[in-house]
Amino acid sequence: MQKIIIDTDPGQDDAVAILLALASPELQVLGITCVAGNVPLPLTTLNARKICELAGRTDIEIFAGCDAPIKRKLITAEHVHGKTGLDGIELPAPTMPLQDQHAVDFIIETLRAAQDHEITLCPLGPLTNIATALTRAPDIAIKIKQIVLMGGAYFEVGNITPTAEFNIYVDPEAAEIVFKSGIDLVVLPLDATHKVLTTRARMDRIKALNTQIAQAVISWTDFFERFDMEKYGSDGAPLHDPCVIAYLLQPDIFTGRYINVEIETQSQLTLGMTVADWWGVSGRKANATFMGDVRADAFYELLTQRLSQL
Ligand code: BDR
Ligand code: CA
Repeated sequence: MQKIIIDTDPGQDDAVAILLALASPELQVLGITCVAGNVPLPLTTLNARKICELAGRTDIEIFAGCDAPIKRKLITAEHVHGKTGLDGIELPAPTMPLQDQHAVDFIIETLRAAQDHEITLCPLGPLTNIATALTRAPDIAIKIKQIVLMGGAYFEVGNITPTAEFNIYVDPEAAEIVFKSGIDLVVLPLDATHKVLTTRARMDRIKALNTQIAQAVISWTDFFERFDMEKYGSDGAPLHDPCVIAYLLQPDIFTGRYINVEIETQSQLTLGMTVADWWGVSGRKANATFMGDVRADAFYELLTQRLSQL
């Protein structure tokens, strides 16, 4: 069983990622740590609890983390995810508690108690919590098996600016700390996630599961599809964050390169860009496995099968 901590800013695609993880017996979710991103922290923590309750998993511990990036003002994405961050189906107000402990303290404490290389971190939002934990407690790095994160782009360049992907752009200083940490990194950038489209045929198979969970997933994807289909002119919208969990379950559906990736933190024009040395021209040391492709049908087969188990 792989032990994971999900760090997240739900977000409809974060929600699907959390459900996929909770539906997978190979994964033990040690906790869900929330961060400000798609919407402010009070909403991401509320949404995380709603999602766990929807899955009947009130036993999962949920923590509130950083409410703003390390040195910048928070930028949010209500234009994609709606006012609540989880627009779509109306879910009941959660009754499960938010833990008292700060998410960063939870991450530090959990990692300190672990064996070396035991726990995988799964960031699905800005990297503020993870970078803060690594800065405050550098001794935890050795306890991390891998950081498998959604963020960045190379060939697809950007989605929030012409050259930056949202999660990295919101807190580039945090991203820089993570990318320079020396920890084994697997990156699911837009180059992979933009291929995982919610086409009608794929979503019809999820709808046919005919469960409350399937209904919620369809309502969420229907919601953000409207925005993305207009933006990209594509058949369906990318389901970004579930790629992180799918990678843990079936890494062979993704292909990429082990390359050098640096974060732009200075330029006004290209702030938050993941400068990925895909062609190996910089001579800089490789620090991340950067995914470029995915077998999207295999991804949806996995997702549909797992959601049927919830
Ligand atoms: C990322 O940004 C957020 O809006 C999504 O939840 C995803 O994590 C995609 O750029
Ligand atoms: Ca997210």
